[in-house]
Amino acid sequence: MLFGIEKVHLMTDTPLNIPLEKIPQHVAMIMDGNGRWALQRGLPRLAGHKAGTENLRRVIRATVEFGVKYLTIYAFSTENWGRPAEEVNGLMLILQNVIDRELDELHKEGVQLRHIGRLERLDPAIQNKVLHAIDLTKNNDRLILNVAFNYGGRDEIVNAIQNIIKDGISAEDVTDELVNRYLFTAGVPDPDLIIRTSGELRVSNFLIWQAAYSEWYITPTFWPDFDKEEYRRALETYAHRDRRYGKVSSGALQESNA
Ligand code: FPP
Repeated sequence: MLFGIEKVHLMTDTPLNIPLEKIPQHVAMIMDGNGRWALQRGLPRLAGHKAGTENLRRVIRATVEFGVKYLTIYAFSTENWGRPAEEVNGLMLILQNVIDRELDELHKEGVQLRHIGRLERLDPAIQNKVLHAIDLTKNNDRLILNVAFNYGGRDEIVNAIQNIIKDGISAEDVTDELVNRYLFTAGVPDPDLIIRTSGELRVSNFLIWQAAYSEWYITPTFWPDFDKEEYRRALETYAHRDRRYGKVSSGALQESNA
């Protein structure tokens, strides 16, 4: 027992040493370092993305086991179009292959697939695959997997503002809650924890509105090597954070009232 609450026991290995209410509801991941992982091995960058894709399968499985309800992954940013054509095309192919090969399994596992970003700017064949995956899995609720593909945080906010104006909403009706409803993530709670691999200390245009009070876990590990043990450490680290949302902790309040 920990804090009077039973530990979450996983079927396979060591238990997650976290009381249930300290498990983040929503984890978001910046899967960075595929290129450097490949470079270290003298391989082309796409080999890094392929290894990263393999790792993603393991991370999704672990997410379900850990009892995290929402997972958002940053797979392709609005800025990634500026990469060499071979890499861009490779990433487009990876998305299609992932859907072709993994959709049935994800569906069986109860994963609901969602997309955030500008779908309409992708090749129509890709759009159709994504839409089919979303439709097939729409009633699943074991894990909500948001795939950020052709996603940019600023682009998301611009899109929201445009639609708010198009809908004729008056200035005084624009609130936090209304903006939330116009984001690609409408209906999804803000990420509690954002994990960034490969040690970079930046936000990279990822969920810039939603991350206002997210906790960060940054590791030097390259994405293809980010394994379940390190994921577990990230969740355990998060569980010890004191989330104050700009206020003071309840402990500090009791002390000052004493
Ligand atoms: C950043 O590493 C990674 C990406 C831009 C792509 C992430 C994609 C995957 C992990 C594959 C899964 C994809 C889908 C579509 C589900 P980087 O290339 O910037 O690495 P570097 O900083 O070392 O160069």
